[in-house]
Amino acid sequence: MADAAARHRSRFTDPAIDEYAGTHSSGPDAIQRELQTVTQERTGPAAGMQIGDDQAVLMETIVRAMGAKRAVEVGTFTGYSALAVARGLGPDGHLLCCDTSEEWTAIAREAWAKAGVAERIDLQIGPGIDTLRALPPGEQFDFAFIDADKVGYDAYYEEILARLRPGGLILLDNMLQNGRVIDPSINDESVTAIRALNDKIAADARVRVVLVPIGDGVSVVQKV
Ligand SMILES: C[S@@+](CC[C@H](N)C(=O)[O-])C[C@H]1O[C@@H](n2cnc3c(N)ncnc32)[C@H](O)[C@@H]1O
Repeated sequence: MADAAARHRSRFTDPAIDEYAGTHSSGPDAIQRELQTVTQERTGPAAGMQIGDDQAVLMETIVRAMGAKRAVEVGTFTGYSALAVARGLGPDGHLLCCDTSEEWTAIAREAWAKAGVAERIDLQIGPGIDTLRALPPGEQFDFAFIDADKVGYDAYYEEILARLRPGGLILLDNMLQNGRVIDPSINDESVTAIRALNDKIAADARVRVVLVPIGDGVSVVQKV
């Protein structure tokens, strides 16, 4: 059982239910806890961008269960979600990570080395869309996680979907925008972009999708 306080991350579930769910889910190990602490100490308020423990367990479990070997992440920050995906992939897996920040991803590199997963991760610094568009034509993925700038999501989705094997998954984070997606008076660029993408994916015949209200909302998209 995990420490309930550390796991209290769902923004939409009744807090008591969220706490109960947290204490009946697998918790972070020592390396994950240390990464949470170091992220807090070295990035301050930005640490809130890190995915929650529940989401990390969910992602690691999905990646392992689907036997994924090739994965891509756009938006790595200090490496917590990438660590979960890399563990799920196993030693013969490969994860391409895209981020613009040398500073934040330096913390990720340290954690991945400690966790023994650094060998299976290729971190590319630069705009995620440039990294994706520069991939060789034959590059294919089993699994993807999108968690970067919200206005870029649609472009990441299209680039990755074109390279996703049938049956493969794309998970997209922050698809509920703290609940702001359902408030028509809010029209900042992130909310507008995510609202439009939610509408597009729900009507997209290329995929099946479920928007799960874990964390800040995670869309699980499967290519048909
Ligand atoms: C929400 S954080 C990612 C959190 C990470 N998935 C985790 O669980 O710790 C968003 C990240 O996207 C990166 N980012 C922002 N704009 C980007 C872009 N155009 N291309 C690639 N990464 C970008 C930021 O540097 C930041 O590290």
